[in-house]
Amino acid sequence: DKLNVAVVGATGAVGTKILEKLLERDFPASSIKMLASKRSAGQEIVAGGRSYIVEETVPESFDGIDIAFFSAGGSISQKFAPEAVKRGAVVIDNTSAFRMDEGIPLVVPEVNAHALNQHAGIIANPNCSTIQMVAALQPVKEKFGISKIIVSTYQAVSGAGAEAIDELNEQSKQFEDRVEIEAQLLPSASAEKHYPIAFNVIPQIDLFGDAGYTLEEWKMMNETKKIFGDSTIAVSATCVRLPVVTGHSESVYIEIDQDDVTVDVLRSVINEAPGVVLQDDPASQTYPMPLYAEGKDAVFVGRIRKDPSHPRGFHLWIVADNLLKGAALNSVQIAEELIKS
Ligand code: A2P
Repeated sequence: DKLNVAVVGATGAVGTKILEKLLERDFPASSIKMLASKRSAGQEIVAGGRSYIVEETVPESFDGIDIAFFSAGGSISQKFAPEAVKRGAVVIDNTSAFRMDEGIPLVVPEVNAHALNQHAGIIANPNCSTIQMVAALQPVKEKFGISKIIVSTYQAVSGAGAEAIDELNEQSKQFEDRVEIEAQLLPSASAEKHYPIAFNVIPQIDLFGDAGYTLEEWKMMNETKKIFGDSTIAVSATCVRLPVVTGHSESVYIEIDQDDVTVDVLRSVINEAPGVVLQDDPASQTYPMPLYAEGKDAVFVGRIRKDPSHPRGFHLWIVADNLLKGAALNSVQIAEELIKS
């Protein structure tokens, strides 16, 4: 049976990729409704040789919709996701609005597809940085156990939306023209101060929360525990924005439960993980980089090495396209998993 699909945030950085992935993967859709704000109503999106006309998002948009993908910000999800569910749709939400709510599955299909067995209409897609990390670590956790994770991220501007890409481009031009660099958006639209991202590194993503951690860091720490179904795993994160357009990178330190695991064994376990590609050969300078991960579905892992001072400690470098596995692809994979059952 074919499904009526809606994409909320259709004009955004993630929304456009959701449409691309639905078409590329031959998702069994009988119709795809592209929804955004009133501002974009009437705008034409061309994909797969077809034209889609963007409509304003209103509660009635969801009449007759089977699956609705949301990627228009948390407040839009808060407002319209319950409306969509009321009208019989299953919502796959890419925002942080419902992720930590009890009874809302938070899913990376390679890790916890089983969580989809019970839901009440809304499925949450995890934070982009969390997805690529848990996808790469899942086989390690399953085989050896993981007790501790310390992660530092190197995140691309597209994670903050299409306007953040524009800001990086504008600032790069301002730098070249030797005029003053104007910062309006990053680190967060609602932050008090804004800093240039061009030729800079900003150790703040989203607003600050408890204990000196940002909300992005809390997302990684809390979501990892929920997806792994393990509240005892120790996780701490430092999330940093870089002047990269697309592709998040992560330096990840883990402590595993088992002794005597070699780097070669760890490499082969990661190599077998679904959706993960090993790029790890220092001799030939082979390691993942965001520039080459852009547009790819896989999570790339390299630089695997043992910690010199901890017998069960390892370091890894994990890179993925934040708009694809980190968002649109994972959302579409959730939908594929849902209709399998
Ligand atoms: P619009 O282009 O009409 O503003 P990004 O994540 O790249 O910043 O994109 C955000 C997405 O959310 C865009 O598609 C944007 O549409 C959409 N959006 C913003 N405000 C609303 C709203 N009030 N109702 C529906 N969609 C919205």
